Amino acid sequence: MKGVRKNYDNCCTLSFLLVFLVLILLRPVFSINILSSTEYLTISGNGTLVSPGDVFELGFFRTTSSSRWYLGIWYKKVYFRTYVWVANRDNPLSRSIGTLRISNMNLVLLDHSNKSVWSTNLTRGNERSPVVAELLANGNFVMRDSNNNDASGFLWQSFDFPTDTLLPEMKLGYDLKTGLNRFLTAWRNSDDPSSGDYSYKLENRELPEFYLLKSGFQVHRSGPWNGVRFSGIPENQKLSYMVYNFTENSEEVAYTFRMTNNSFYSRLKVSSDGYLQRLTLIPISIAWNLFWSSPVDIRCDMFRVCGPYAYCDGNTSPLCNCIQGFDPWNLQQWDIGEPAGGCVRRTLLSCSDDGFTKMKKMKLPDTRLAIVDRSIGLKECEKRCLSDCNCTAFANADIRNGGTGCVIWTGHLQDIRTYYDEGQDLYVRLAADDLG
Ligand SMILES: *[C@@H]1O[C@H](CO)[C@@H](O)[C@H](O)[C@H]1NC(C)=O
Ligand SMILES: *[C@@H]1O[C@H](CO)[C@@H](O)[C@H](O)[C@H]1NC(C)=O
Ligand SMILES: *[C@@H]1O[C@H](CO)[C@@H](O)[C@H](O)[C@H]1NC(C)=O
Ligand SMILES: *[C@@H]1O[C@H](CO)[C@@H](O)[C@H](O)[C@H]1NC(C)=O
Ligand SMILES: *[C@@H]1O[C@H](CO)[C@@H](O)[C@H](O)[C@H]1NC(C)=O
Ligand SMILES: *[C@@H]1O[C@H](CO)[C@@H](O)[C@H](O)[C@H]1NC(C)=O
Repeated sequence: MKGVRKNYDNCCTLSFLLVFLVLILLRPVFSINILSSTEYLTISGNGTLVSPGDVFELGFFRTTSSSRWYLGIWYKKVYFRTYVWVANRDNPLSRSIGTLRISNMNLVLLDHSNKSVWSTNLTRGNERSPVVAELLANGNFVMRDSNNNDASGFLWQSFDFPTDTLLPEMKLGYDLKTGLNRFLTAWRNSDDPSSGDYSYKLENRELPEFYLLKSGFQVHRSGPWNGVRFSGIPENQKLSYMVYNFTENSEEVAYTFRMTNNSFYSRLKVSSDGYLQRLTLIPISIAWNLFWSSPVDIRCDMFRVCGPYAYCDGNTSPLCNCIQGFDPWNLQQWDIGEPAGGCVRRTLLSCSDDGFTKMKKMKLPDTRLAIVDRSIGLKECEKRCLSDCNCTAFANADIRNGGTGCVIWTGHLQDIRTYYDEGQDLYVRLAADDLG
């Protein structure tokens, strides 16, 4: 009896050890993507959250040349470490001690003295249900009630607070319900995630446009969405694995894209030196491929390079040209290559007796003073312009189906350029004498 008992013991100790061993061996496989209100991540603990599908990883990192620590998200399987989001970019941890935890229904990042260096800053009522933080498959880090994983119920999401990167399914632009305008801000340099000089931001107006900003000043304009794309962004190749979308309705005005094949990675990024870039990684490569970069042609793409009523043409010398019927505002300055004063009309508009000159393949002028009517076509648009003495130009709002909708400009026409094979027709109002 005794022997049998002993054997029984041995067998179970052994199987316990085996299970234990298997658990240890398999541990990396059971990576977690949810942080409950009793759990936390620390720098020393080396723990991370990994998104379902293993694409993204959230944890602490340090840049190569500094001893400052950040909480961020990167691609888990991309060979060259690529960060897509940083929580405390302007408030790093100065020592290798830090904790991410949920406290008072907020995500907080604590430093060596338990002082908060970053927090989701939510103020909530007396709700008592516990919250959890979760890294989703698309790289969105969200905080939600533990029993509600419906996207509309997220209490907070990292996608609403982008760093320098737009991932698939993130939105760039306005959530009109909350008033939030999501925009990108570059890293200071490739080894310093703190906020740099350049941002990429939507300006919401009758015809919304994105601007590249340097220290808050406009340096490049995307041009308005023409139904297919932004003319100032070279996103014209049709990629079989990607879909772009610009949505404009009562709830939002935002750009987004998504992948139709998740073996391909792609992201938009504002670089420290002031470019909006589309980077892609295809399954067989280990490095990101720079698909396009904008502005493309610094000579003609910088904001208002030619001044009012002038357009930039990369094929002419000088680059700046007055629109037909206009002359340089200051000929001496124009001749020495200082075109910023732009051009002025030869003959003032009569209001009743004017016509239009058609300019082809144009980047439409700055839409600050533009008015849009999507219900009328080009013929009515022309009438609308003629009936308003302040109207200086008109064009279609959408290039699809041979052109639909109507935009009219009142006031100066600014920041115009020609394209070689893109762009659209712009009709500029002239006095009858200048029609030629
Ligand atoms: C994290 O884990 C790696 C590999 O196990 C180890 O080399 C490294 O020292 C750890 N870092 C910290 C901060 O614990
Ligand atoms: C920080 O908080 C943790 C948990 O509450 C505690 O164990 C630790 O001693 C605190 N550290 C300091 C420096 O106050
Ligand atoms: C939270 O609030 C503090 C103090 O108002 C502010 O400095 C910090 O930027 C806020 N954090 C976030 C993530 O908005
Ligand atoms: C763009 O997104 C909106 C809102 O999500 C959707 O209703 C619309 O169908 C999308 N358009 C395209 C072309 O995918
Ligand atoms: C995605 O692309 C990969 C690599 O080209 C291909 O093998 C796979 O079949 C594609 N998947 C889908 C769903 O199209
Ligand atoms: C035209 O512009 C002038 C000066 O900006 C303004 O006072 C006037 O109301 C405008 N007229 C129309 C029809 O918009």
